[in-house]
Amino acid sequence: MAGDATDRPGEARAAQQRLDALLQEDRVFAPAPGFARRANAADPAVYERAERDPDGFWAEQAAALRWMQPYAQVRSGEIPHVQWFPGGRLNVADNCVDRHCDGPRRNKAAVIWVAESGETRTLTYHRLRRDVCRCANVLRSLGVRRGDRVAIYMGMVPETVVAMLACTRIGAAHTVVFGGFSAEALRERMIDAECKVLVTQDGAYRRGNVVPLLQNAAEAVRGTPGVSKVLVYRRVGAPALQADLPAGMAVDWAQAMREAAAECPCEPMESEDLLYILYTSGTTGKPKGIVHTTAGYLLGVATTHRLIFDLKEEDVYWCAADIGWVTGHSYIVYGPLCNGATTLLYEGTPDFPGRDRHWRIIEEFGVNIYYTAPTTIRTFMRWGTEHPKSADLSSLRVLGSVGEPINPEAWMWYHENIGSGRCPVVDTWWQTETGMIMISPLPGLVPTKPGSATRPFPGVAAAVLDEAGNPVGPGAGGNLVLTRPWPAMLRTIFRDDERFVRQYWSRYPGKYLTGDGARVDADGYFWLLGRVDDVMNVSGHRLSTYEIESALVDHSGVAEAAVIGRNDALKGQAVAAFVTLKERGAAEGGAALKAELQAHVARKIGPIAKPDDIFFTAELPKTRSGKIMRRLLRDIAEGRALGDTTTLADPSVVARLKEQYEEGE
Ligand code: PRX
Repeated sequence: MAGDATDRPGEARAAQQRLDALLQEDRVFAPAPGFARRANAADPAVYERAERDPDGFWAEQAAALRWMQPYAQVRSGEIPHVQWFPGGRLNVADNCVDRHCDGPRRNKAAVIWVAESGETRTLTYHRLRRDVCRCANVLRSLGVRRGDRVAIYMGMVPETVVAMLACTRIGAAHTVVFGGFSAEALRERMIDAECKVLVTQDGAYRRGNVVPLLQNAAEAVRGTPGVSKVLVYRRVGAPALQADLPAGMAVDWAQAMREAAAECPCEPMESEDLLYILYTSGTTGKPKGIVHTTAGYLLGVATTHRLIFDLKEEDVYWCAADIGWVTGHSYIVYGPLCNGATTLLYEGTPDFPGRDRHWRIIEEFGVNIYYTAPTTIRTFMRWGTEHPKSADLSSLRVLGSVGEPINPEAWMWYHENIGSGRCPVVDTWWQTETGMIMISPLPGLVPTKPGSATRPFPGVAAAVLDEAGNPVGPGAGGNLVLTRPWPAMLRTIFRDDERFVRQYWSRYPGKYLTGDGARVDADGYFWLLGRVDDVMNVSGHRLSTYEIESALVDHSGVAEAAVIGRNDALKGQAVAAFVTLKERGAAEGGAALKAELQAHVARKIGPIAKPDDIFFTAELPKTRSGKIMRRLLRDIAEGRALGDTTTLADPSVVARLKEQYEEGE
C-alpha cells in the first residue's frame, strides 16, 4: 500500500502488515452464507447446465427480453460469422424503457444524475420514455432514418443516455466518441462510420473547468461533409451556437425537444441489425469500428449485469466509467436499464471538489453496487483511507473492478476499506469486442482470490494457449482465447471484415484471440497478465502504440518514433516515446520540444494519449529488416537488463540508448 497518505503512520504500518500477511496467505474469500442464499445466481449447477447446452442456457435467459417477434433459432452461421436469435425482432429502447413503464417500475428512478456542481436530477422510467421519444422525433426531423449512423460526442449527462436510446428507438446506430478525444479523432470516426448527424453539447464540466466539446465538434464537422446537422445540448450555457458551426447546421436541443411530440413508436428491429459502432485501438494506426448488433448484445449485457452484480429491484447501482467507453455502453446504459435498474450517472472526477466525492455520493444515494477501475482504486489508496472512512458506506453490497488487471494489493484495499470486508469484489474481464463481461466471479457462488478474475461466465468458454495452440499447464502463461461464440460478441469491424477475420480469428483458427496474456492456476482460476500485443492500457484507457507513433511522426520535426507502454504503479501503464529528429541532433530535443510534441499528440488524438515520457535519441534499435524492437525499449524504460539483442542490426545502438536513458533520469 505504498503512498497511503494517512496522518497516523503507526496505523498505516499496522494496516500494511495486516495486508502483507493476508496476501502471503494466498487468500480465498468464500461467499458469505447470507449473501450466497439470497444471490441471483445461487445454484452452482448453473455452470454445468450452461456448459452442457450453452445455446439452451442463452435461450432460457432470452425469455427475459420483450420480443416483438419470436426468434426462429438461437444461433446460426459458422465462426466467425455467427448470428444470434435470427428471425427474432425486438427493440432495445422498448426493452430498456417502455416495458418498465407498463408496470410498477413506471415511477422508479431509471437514472440518478449527479452533476459535478452537486446539482442532481432524477429521471423516472416514465420521464425517460418521454425524453427518448421526443429525442427520437427530433432525430427523425433531422433526417435520421433506420439504418443511419449518428455520432454522439458528449459528457456524462442524462441527455447522452437519452440520445443513445433515441437512436435505438428509430433503428439508427450510434457511435459514441469519448469527450476526451480531439476534433481530429472525432472527424476520423464520423467519416469512417458515415454519420449523418452529430449530437454534442456546448461544453462539459470537468474538475471545475469546461471541456470545449462544441468547439471540437465544430472543427470536426468542417471536414466531414456527410454530417448535415448538429444537435447541441447546452450544458454550460454557451450564448451562440451558430458562431461555431456553419450556418443552418446547429439545432438547439432544448428548443427541438420542446417542439417534438412525446410519443414515438419503437421500430421493430431484426436481432442482427446494427445497434452501435464503438471505435477502439488496435495494433495499427487506424482505430477499429467494433460492430455490435441488437438482440445478442442486449441479452449478454443484461444477463451478466443481473447475475454478476447480483442486482436487486431496490438497488442503486453505480458504474463510475465514462459512457464514451464500452463499460459505459454496457454497464451504465444497456445492461442496467434492460434490467429495470436505477443507474447512477456522475458527471465529474473523483477529486472534485474533494477527494471524498465518490464516498459522499455513495452515502447520499445509498449506493449498493459500485463498479470502477483499478487505476481509480490505486489513486484512492494514494489519497488515504481517511476519505472513505469519513463516509457511511454501509449501503454497499457488491464491488466491481474493470479495465485492467487488478493487483492483489489494490484488490485487498478495495475489499477492506470500501467493502469493510463484507462485500464480494467481482473482478470482471472483458473488452470492447466482447461487449459483455466474459470472466468474472458470480458473487454468491465463486470464492474469490485477490487479483484473479476467477472463471468464465456460464456458457462462456476460455482457454490459455501456447504458441502452437496447445493449452498451457497450470501456472504457465500463454495467450487468452475464447473458444465458443457468445451472444454479445462483435460481429465484424465496420466496413473491414477482412481485418476482423485476420485480427481475431486467424491466429488460432476457430478461436477468438483476445490479445491478452493469462495463466490458469490449479483451481482453474484465470489470472490476467495484460496485453501481449501493441495495445496499451493507460489508466484503463485503451491506446495503440502505432496511433501515438503516427501522431508523433506527423509533427514536422520528427523523423521516427517508437512508443511503448511501461509499467506504472498508478496508471497500470504509462506512455513512453522514443523519438528521433529530422535535421536536428537528439541533443536539441529539449523541454520545449517535448511539450510541443505532447500538445501535438493531444491535438491529433486527445489529451488521454499524451506521452508521459519523451526521450530524444539519435537512433532506434532495429532488426536487420528494419523493424523497431519495442521489447528492448520496454526493457530500457523499465530499467531491466536487456533481453536478447542478437537480431539487432547494430547492437551498440541499444547499449548507448540504455546509457543515455539512465543518465537522463
Ligand atoms: O487487457 C484487457 C483489459 O482491457 C482490455 C480491453 O480494453 P477495452 O476494450 O477498452 O475494454 C475495457 C473495459 C472492458 C482487455 O483486453 N482488461 C479489461 N478488464 C480487465 C482487463 N485486464 C485484466 N482484468 C480485467 N478485469
